[in-house]
Amino acid sequence: MTIDRNAPCWCGSGKKYKKCHLDFDEKIKAYELKGYEVPPREIIKTPADIEGMKKAAIVNNGVLDLVGEKICAGMSTEEINTLVHEYTIAHGGIPAPLNYQGYPKSVCVSINNVVCHGIPSEETIIQDGDIVNVDVTTIVDGYYADASRMFMIGQVSQEAERLVRVAKECMEIGIEAIKPWGFLGDIGAAVEEHARKNGYSIVVDLGGHGIGKQFHEEPFVPHVGERGEGMLLVPGMTLTVEPMVNEGNYEVCFDEEDGWTVYTEDDSLSAQWEKTILITETGVEVIAY
Ligand code: MF3
Ligand code: CO
Ligand code: CO
Repeated sequence: MTIDRNAPCWCGSGKKYKKCHLDFDEKIKAYELKGYEVPPREIIKTPADIEGMKKAAIVNNGVLDLVGEKICAGMSTEEINTLVHEYTIAHGGIPAPLNYQGYPKSVCVSINNVVCHGIPSEETIIQDGDIVNVDVTTIVDGYYADASRMFMIGQVSQEAERLVRVAKECMEIGIEAIKPWGFLGDIGAAVEEHARKNGYSIVVDLGGHGIGKQFHEEPFVPHVGERGEGMLLVPGMTLTVEPMVNEGNYEVCFDEEDGWTVYTEDDSLSAQWEKTILITETGVEVIAY
């Protein structure tokens, strides 16, 4: 699409296009002409979009802080669901998981060998020694924020503790690998290298994603890959980095009965941390954590 140089910029800044995003768009076009995969305009956030996502993130971060205060052995994962649901609604948000593609609850709670998408239940009781991922996504005024943290319950084995720590490092190293005008593959390469160095594997069947006015937008963010490959990363893109790190094999299986729960195929432990980030002119800004 070509815009009149003197027309207002598409980003809503009120500036003329030629004084705002014209050079930016031309730079992207140049990459495209050289054969690189480039981000479509729809996934580049305007200042108003970023403000909206930050509002959603405030509620989302508050939910995870609350879960961190309350989570303990003896609690059912249904109780976590109630906490998340009520806090979110009370703060003007909507829990994004609820009814998302038929998902029945307001949060995902994934324990030990559950990789992700664990469905809260009164029957699932959090035990001493468990490692628990709580994955929270909040919608405020149509904008999404998505993050997850691990919680170690009571006395956790040294092996489990190391997995949780390395999984967090994998996420952080993945985020540090993001550079404006770098490539999507830079993230996965860094994450995979760190996991492998520590004797762990990275899940490839699920990954991070673009996010904004939708839960899951382009691009899919692999946590394995090659530097310099995949989509060009530019300022204004918002992504999640959320590597799932397995103690054993990278392979996973999906629960056929509930249609959601993802397990490690070999029943080994799995850990995951997730943040929503914004790519800026100079690097990365964390939005939801
Ligand atoms: N929050 C997950 C993610 O990080 C997605 C959960 S989908 C749900 O992408 F339906 F299970 F909630
Ligand atoms: Co999530
Ligand atoms: Co996500």
